[in-house]
Amino acid sequence: MIIFTSNIKSNRFIPAAEPQPNSYRDNLPERPSRNPLDGDHSVRFPRVVADAPFFQLVQLKNGDWSIRSLAEGETFHPVIGPAAEAKALYVRQLKLCDRMRQEAAEFVIWDVGLGGGANALTVINQTAGAGRRVRMVSFDRTLEPLRFARQHADTLGYFGDLTCHVDQLLKSSVVNFQHGARAVHWEVKLGDFPTLMADESITDLPAPHAILFDAYSPARNAAMWTLPLFGALQRRLSENRPCVMPTYSRSTMLRTTLLLAGFFVGVGHATGEKEETTIASNDRSMIDEPLGMDWLKRARASTSAEPLVEPTYRQAPLSPASLKQLLAHPQFHPQPLPVARSGPGVDGVPAAAASDGP
Ligand SMILES: C[S@@+](CC[C@H](N)C(=O)[O-])C[C@H]1O[C@@H](n2cnc3c(N)ncnc32)[C@H](O)[C@@H]1O
Repeated sequence: MIIFTSNIKSNRFIPAAEPQPNSYRDNLPERPSRNPLDGDHSVRFPRVVADAPFFQLVQLKNGDWSIRSLAEGETFHPVIGPAAEAKALYVRQLKLCDRMRQEAAEFVIWDVGLGGGANALTVINQTAGAGRRVRMVSFDRTLEPLRFARQHADTLGYFGDLTCHVDQLLKSSVVNFQHGARAVHWEVKLGDFPTLMADESITDLPAPHAILFDAYSPARNAAMWTLPLFGALQRRLSENRPCVMPTYSRSTMLRTTLLLAGFFVGVGHATGEKEETTIASNDRSMIDEPLGMDWLKRARASTSAEPLVEPTYRQAPLSPASLKQLLAHPQFHPQPLPVARSGPGVDGVPAAAASDGP
């Protein structure tokens, strides 16, 4: 693996230590890092330490380049690389070109966790010419990863011909440009995403047709994976606008959280890294392979299924109250509810052997 480290102040390449193999796709807490910037990043920004390197450019096994956050100890798109993952998880799975073409007005995408811009840029590039108007609303608490990516745009290889638009975005947080026959509006909302979602005085966010949800792992970034956050996000969707949100994780905890937040939830496409991901929607018909009673049985037996409520990572089995709410979820109807009976099951759903991959 070839590694370059960029120093935020001087942006010169300096030799870097071999990164740890962990990625933000791991669902388990990572061992503590010795990085001086490390701390509880789930609830506050990393401290700025002069001359400290924040990001590294790393070359993945398949030859593609990606970004590693030293503060979080996690690599973006760690296995198949930035562009390949964005294509598999979003462009192909959501059939974005078709959906954009079908939208007579504006097609709205929320890009949660803008980071180095790989998801947003790949989606814009790969859907070139589709639709009449596209609005990309990116959210992040910092533009530093995008600045770093911009400095290494040639190596990262996913900027296409959009580099000048990224420059404008970095300068003014908004850019409008013509992309073939369609108009693209791209803006960045800077700040803490959970706080923004919970702020009911913010009413001018256009409801999305698609959400690219790409935070760090729950173990490192718990605030981005809580039930209150996904509940607030779900309430911002429009009843009249089917919206689909794929995520790279297939964890039982995430799936329970999305269901209890009011989404319909199903098995998402493989990406090359994971044989299965997760897809959520406010419209049942958008889910090809909805989770069924088998999944519910496995969730009942899982040791890590209870949603996070606080922005602190922990693992816990489903509480009886959560299981009751899951059973009442429209996703599991009109299938008849299992007959209640005494025994180890709760509300008639017996425990089953858990297979709880991340
Ligand atoms: C894995 S990176 C995203 C990679 C990016 N999607 C890409 O394609 O390059 C996760 C991003 O989530 C952002 N993030 C983490 N916690 C956040 C929070 N509470 N509010 C807003 N953004 C947050 C981080 O700053 C980081 O840029």
